[in-house]
Amino acid sequence: MRIGILGSGLMGAKLGTIFARAGHDVTFSYARSEEKLKRLARKAGRKARAGTPREAARDADAVLLAVPWLRIDDVLAQAGDLSGKVVITCSMPMNDDDTELAVAHISSGPEELTKRIPGARVVAAFGTVPSEVLFPVYAARRKASRPSLAYCGDDRKAKNVAVKLIRDAGFDPVDAGPLRIARYIEPFAMLIAQLAYEGKGGPQLAYRFERFR
Ligand SMILES: NC(=O)c1ccc[n+]([C@@H]2O[C@H](COP(=O)([O-])OP(=O)(O)OC[C@H]3O[C@@H](n4cnc5c(N)ncnc54)[C@H](OP(=O)(O)O)[C@@H]3O)[C@@H](O)[C@H]2O)c1
Repeated sequence: MRIGILGSGLMGAKLGTIFARAGHDVTFSYARSEEKLKRLARKAGRKARAGTPREAARDADAVLLAVPWLRIDDVLAQAGDLSGKVVITCSMPMNDDDTELAVAHISSGPEELTKRIPGARVVAAFGTVPSEVLFPVYAARRKASRPSLAYCGDDRKAKNVAVKLIRDAGFDPVDAGPLRIARYIEPFAMLIAQLAYEGKGGPQLAYRFERFR
């Protein structure tokens, strides 16, 4: 697949690198330094390159939106028309000082996103894990038991694209249902962040749902 990374920080840089190593064509975009994007692309291997948000989105089969909530309008404006595109977002709708969800209970980041990019096929995924665990999970992808990754969305085909990428990254995808379920997923992501950054074991934390019969 061709994947455009919109936001090449902690999440975008690592997920883009993992997708490139898993064999996808990746374009890193949207950082404050072009040199950083080029460096990331070099390190991610021959499947990766650096570009503008517009270049990253143009021919992409999927774009990963990985920017702070405050930067959403800016990156979307730079990306251009995303109608019809699969947009996978890990962006959390945090308030300005990054301490609380700015949108919650009666809406969610991904739902607000669909209002800003009508026609885009939005899937919420990857926001429930800290960036620090991404490389370790990818490294452990051949082990029998994989960590879960909850995702949600309203478009079946877009969700299938997300499932492929979630699997490629080493997780076991868990379909949480329609996009409005992001209202529950986001507070859960806050719990994971609390455990990862304030708990005792450190931030290399993933989770696993198990069913007992
Ligand atoms: N970090 C996590 O563990 C984690 C986990 C789950 C969900 N999330 C969510 O994922 C999203 C991304 O988080 P992150 O931690 O990856 O953020 P981040 O490290 O701050 O990365 C954001 C990216 O946006 C770029 N950017 C910011 N301001 C810009 C500007 N004015 N012009 C151009 N580029 C700009 C940054 O550029 P530079 O590279 O130059 O800084 C960086 O590449 C957030 O919504 C966050 O809530 C994060």
